[in-house]
Amino acid sequence: MRWGPLTALLLAALAAPAEAQAPVDWSEAEIRLVGQHGPWPPPPVRDPSNRISDTPAGIALGEYLFNDARLSGDGLMSCATCHQAGRDWSDGRARGKARADLDRRTPSLWNVGHSHWFGWTGAGDSLWAQSIRPILDPEEMGGSWARVARLLREDKDLACGYDRAFGTKPDSDDERLLVDAAKALAAFQATLVSPRTRFDAFRDALVAGDREAAARYGLPEQRGLKLFVGEGNCNACHFGPRFTNGEFGDIGIAFFVRPGEVDSGRLGGIAALVASPFNLLGRYNDDPSGTSARRTQHVRRLHSNFGEFRVPGLRQVGRSAAFMHNGGFATLEDVVRHYSEVSPDRLHSDGTPLVRPLGLSAQQSTDLVAFLRSLDADPPTRPAPPPLCP
Ligand code: HEC
Ligand code: HEC
Repeated sequence: MRWGPLTALLLAALAAPAEAQAPVDWSEAEIRLVGQHGPWPPPPVRDPSNRISDTPAGIALGEYLFNDARLSGDGLMSCATCHQAGRDWSDGRARGKARADLDRRTPSLWNVGHSHWFGWTGAGDSLWAQSIRPILDPEEMGGSWARVARLLREDKDLACGYDRAFGTKPDSDDERLLVDAAKALAAFQATLVSPRTRFDAFRDALVAGDREAAARYGLPEQRGLKLFVGEGNCNACHFGPRFTNGEFGDIGIAFFVRPGEVDSGRLGGIAALVASPFNLLGRYNDDPSGTSARRTQHVRRLHSNFGEFRVPGLRQVGRSAAFMHNGGFATLEDVVRHYSEVSPDRLHSDGTPLVRPLGLSAQQSTDLVAFLRSLDADPPTRPAPPPLCP
């Protein structure tokens, strides 16, 4: 009797770790769901709208241009200023910074060749069209068609790199030369594939039924993954090997940029896409079959697009400094708290909501974060690019 309360205390103290040590059971259905997040890396994609996609000479020219500050109006800013190789192709900031502060975060470029909409609102329908935007945007690089075209024509290395990539010398059509530069930039960016992770080793072992190899993945990670594909319903949007369905969603993130000004998200993205002379319906699409333009052809603005943003892929996610289109969350713990506590009033009311407040326990939240962190891995160091025209 005397020891009763103490025993109870001891038991309580032991119970938590015991639960935390229990092996995780995986049902056939769950194994199938986990299997859908791989295999990794995926087979390379070729972009039919870009005739130099996937060509070594196109990739080499693109890498050169990506690091070339002469594309910008003042000669001081390159793509690599904001998309830095050492920072997972982002800039480590909550929101982008050029001449002015930008309203959105610089997304990482990992696995960008596998997307079909680009930018936080899908204002671009091809990687090359998306690569034109920052060059011309006065708030970003502030460059011009004429400047880029002149550079390609007059710089000895670039003119030679262009000839190798496109099989002709740069001509006098400035607009086409700008598009071609963007196509080279796209060819390069499509090679940025994130490394295999601890999750991938587990996923492959689970699918192959190799329990010994699967057991090397931590229990918190396994529980977090189970939540991700189960109760949490995260894979409704973060689906497939890249952990994104490539489309848009509303998860209740504030869309006020500053008092009285909103970021309309996908709604504005569609308007920009349709108005762009560089979209896949325009004359610069290299795909004669027209198949690549189908999505753009069918895009329609719906009221529900207001406040939707692109579902980000989650590979290398924990290596970013901030999260969401507006960099509004500083840590993964903040992100998970958002999904745990989100107010249904903040979400669109039409249809069955895919997001609802999950009310996670402290342990569930830690597990989910542990799982998300297992999607990170150190990328191999990049070798210095070879000279364009040795
Ligand atoms: C001043 C910083 C900055 C510079 C310089 C910059 N970007 Fe970006 N980049 C951003 C931001 C911010 C976004 C998000 C834009 C949006 O969706 O509104 C973005 C988005 C992108 C995307 C879309 C990624 C995705 O996941 O859909 C691509 C591709 C891209 N940039 C390529 C480039 C290229 C190529 C260059 C050079 C020509 C470049 N960027 C220069 C900040 C920058
Ligand atoms: C309705 C679709 C949907 C569901 C369900 C969903 N997400 Fe998201 N997720 C998004 C969208 C859209 C964003 C970006 C929102 C923004 O930028 O405003 C996002 C952003 C994120 C981010 C930040 C990524 C980054 O690079 O900024 C993480 C991490 C994340 N989600 C994890 C989860 C987890 C964990 C769950 C399950 C608890 C989940 N998501 C459920 C659509 C969804």
